[in-house]
Amino acid sequence: MTAYSVVIKMTPSGLLYLVEAVNYLGVDWRFYLMVTNKWFRGIYAVILVLIAFATVLWFPKSRVEASPPGVLPAEAQLDSQVNELLARMTTEEKIGQLTQLAASDATPEMIRKGEVGSILSDADPADIARLQHIAVSESRLHIPILFGFDVIHGYRTIFPIPLAMAGSFDPKMEEQEAAIAAAEASAGGQRWTFAPMVDIARDPRWGRITEGAGEDQFLGAAMAAAQVRGFQGGNLADPHRLLACAKHYAAYGAAEGGRDYNTADMSVQLLRNVYLPPFHAAVEAGAESVMTAFNDLNGVPGVEDRFLLQQVLRKEWDFKGFVVSDYDAVNELISHGVAGSQKQAVQEALSAGTDMDMHDGLYLKELPALLAEGRISMAQLNEAVRRVLRVKFELGLFDHPCTAADASSAKAHWLTPAYREAARAAEERSAVLLRNSGNVLPLSETLRTVAVIGPLADSRTEPLSHWHGDGNPQDTVTILDGLRRQLPNARILVEKGVAVEGDTEAEAKAGIARAVAAARQAQVAILTLGETAEMSGEGGSRSSLNLPGHQKQLLKAVVKTGKPVVLLLMNGHPLTISWAAEHVPAILELWEGGTEVGNAAANLLFGKVDPGGKLPVSVPRIASQIPVYYDHLNTGRPGTMKTRFSSRYLDLPVGPLYRFGYGLSYTTFRFSSLALSAPAMGRNGSIEVSATITNTGHRAGDEVAQLYIRQRVATLSQPVRELKGFERITLQPGQSRVVRFTLKASQLGFWNNSSVFRIEPGTFDLWVGDSSAGGLHTTFLLK
Ligand code: NOJ
Repeated sequence: MTAYSVVIKMTPSGLLYLVEAVNYLGVDWRFYLMVTNKWFRGIYAVILVLIAFATVLWFPKSRVEASPPGVLPAEAQLDSQVNELLARMTTEEKIGQLTQLAASDATPEMIRKGEVGSILSDADPADIARLQHIAVSESRLHIPILFGFDVIHGYRTIFPIPLAMAGSFDPKMEEQEAAIAAAEASAGGQRWTFAPMVDIARDPRWGRITEGAGEDQFLGAAMAAAQVRGFQGGNLADPHRLLACAKHYAAYGAAEGGRDYNTADMSVQLLRNVYLPPFHAAVEAGAESVMTAFNDLNGVPGVEDRFLLQQVLRKEWDFKGFVVSDYDAVNELISHGVAGSQKQAVQEALSAGTDMDMHDGLYLKELPALLAEGRISMAQLNEAVRRVLRVKFELGLFDHPCTAADASSAKAHWLTPAYREAARAAEERSAVLLRNSGNVLPLSETLRTVAVIGPLADSRTEPLSHWHGDGNPQDTVTILDGLRRQLPNARILVEKGVAVEGDTEAEAKAGIARAVAAARQAQVAILTLGETAEMSGEGGSRSSLNLPGHQKQLLKAVVKTGKPVVLLLMNGHPLTISWAAEHVPAILELWEGGTEVGNAAANLLFGKVDPGGKLPVSVPRIASQIPVYYDHLNTGRPGTMKTRFSSRYLDLPVGPLYRFGYGLSYTTFRFSSLALSAPAMGRNGSIEVSATITNTGHRAGDEVAQLYIRQRVATLSQPVRELKGFERITLQPGQSRVVRFTLKASQLGFWNNSSVFRIEPGTFDLWVGDSSAGGLHTTFLLK
């Protein structure tokens, strides 16, 4: 136990004052850490403990009434803590609390002066501890720094990308993932994650589609809330949890043309019905921070969007946390053309409601003059500081300023067997079986010769994705590792074939020839194709969603051998694989599957587990078909009409290659007995929906029952279908289960363009099925 933790344990009611007292007495407790002799350390610890007792008695409880570890302070207590601290702060110290810098920019001197409220992207636990020690022991008011990191799908144990996880249709598992990520990240010194990313993405060219839950707002809201629960654990004061941050507020995923950072322009009804619900769900689940979007929405960049920040977030949703800008986004108001100077940018951002400035340091630079000139009032500044301090108190940071000690102690909490197991299960449940013609899968364990082909088969880096926390590629179990473990006695022929991209024609030709030769010798060829991690994520938009480089040529050549071929896709964007969808017998979408991808893939390929994931996004036939999403409006001339004058392309079938919610299993299911508890419901009522699902095959398997509705006539045109419920179940061969959903009238309403939420009477279609197409159908009435 370090002196640090002794101190914290002995003085739950006032580390702040203890540190002050220690400093008054000229005893610098950090000195303890430098003492190596165990007797001196013991004596020193006793002195510290005595000081701790003295401090608790000496300072009246009313000054800082902190909570016992892990207990959330009550509202009134929080307010008085915040106000009391605020009253003691200088203007510079207040501005400091609104400043988030990179560790490399936050000098010890700045920290001592109270100029740094938060630090981002520092992955070194010892460095975090060092900087935090400076803040709590050497700054005048000892206010701890809030350390933030992009913990998007794991910290050290990397889980599948969020897009993949959404395809599990399993919010509980998503919650567990976030809790594990929080445990690992907090052991490394982080207390804040810039996640969940809850942007709806209807354009798969957008690189950041990988970070979110896909195209659907209902699934997106469920996954957003699950992540918030997992990160925060219902109690921010728990030092093993992280503050969640719903981002990027809002409509970042609607970037025109799928090009990152691009403009979004949309109606109020679209914004409120599709893009905002996951944010609302995250706030309702307790997310105490929100990050603004880089892009402009209807001409207004995220950091200065008063409608979003003040009207919707604060007034309508009663959000009590704080808002942080995205990276340099305050400064970018100048490029957006809505501020003529950095000073004006700061004025706009702070007065709109962006409390904390990420990275560009402009609040620090410009706020003093803005205050002096009266362009920002002290009341505005105080309000923003209050919000930040409030969360710091809620996090218990004053009691537990540092959860990191050093790298070696942090390591004990990383990549535990249980975490690896969870990551493996997550990938198994997220993978989507797209095709399995002739039941090529599952493969037999008696295989003697297998060709493993493709540039990603032995990659440790790419499965971790663009955002990979502090994950280490050395920890990745590759596809090849997984297959070797599964088939210890088989002959495994490994050929890269081609690179993901960048091969010359000659290199590709030679590589493909070697791959074909390997396939010819094998009983089955397993091809691992897709994208590199850097082909998606931030700044990772693509105009084509084809397999990059010469990979399609490789695939065609191997298929031509006539050997059974299994295509494993590893990618961040959905890929346009129309040729493969017709010619490759088995296709398994693994996405970027994380640290345990190889073990999960092997279990799936050999039928140890059944693939039960579904697509969280529509997969287009070709990129020029985009946008293609399932919950579109019908139009006056639906594309399904058999006439030239309908809403379709002349040269392409209507609809995507693979629809939202689609995914196969090794077994088969039958849906039957759709029933409603009543044929109609009132404006405040609800209906129970039930359907029976039977496993009609010979293996155990998973199915996701999906409930969709459509209002036939309303004052605004309504989507052809909208997801309103889902449940993933496991059934043994021959087993049946009844799934039940409660459909509330409030779920049937929609926002109109005057920002009015309307629940309109009328007839609704209702489907329960295994994807966004087909399914059992009935109707009901909303009175
Ligand atoms: C920019 C990204 O847009 C945002 O998502 C991320 O959290 C920050 N950088 C910090 O890394």
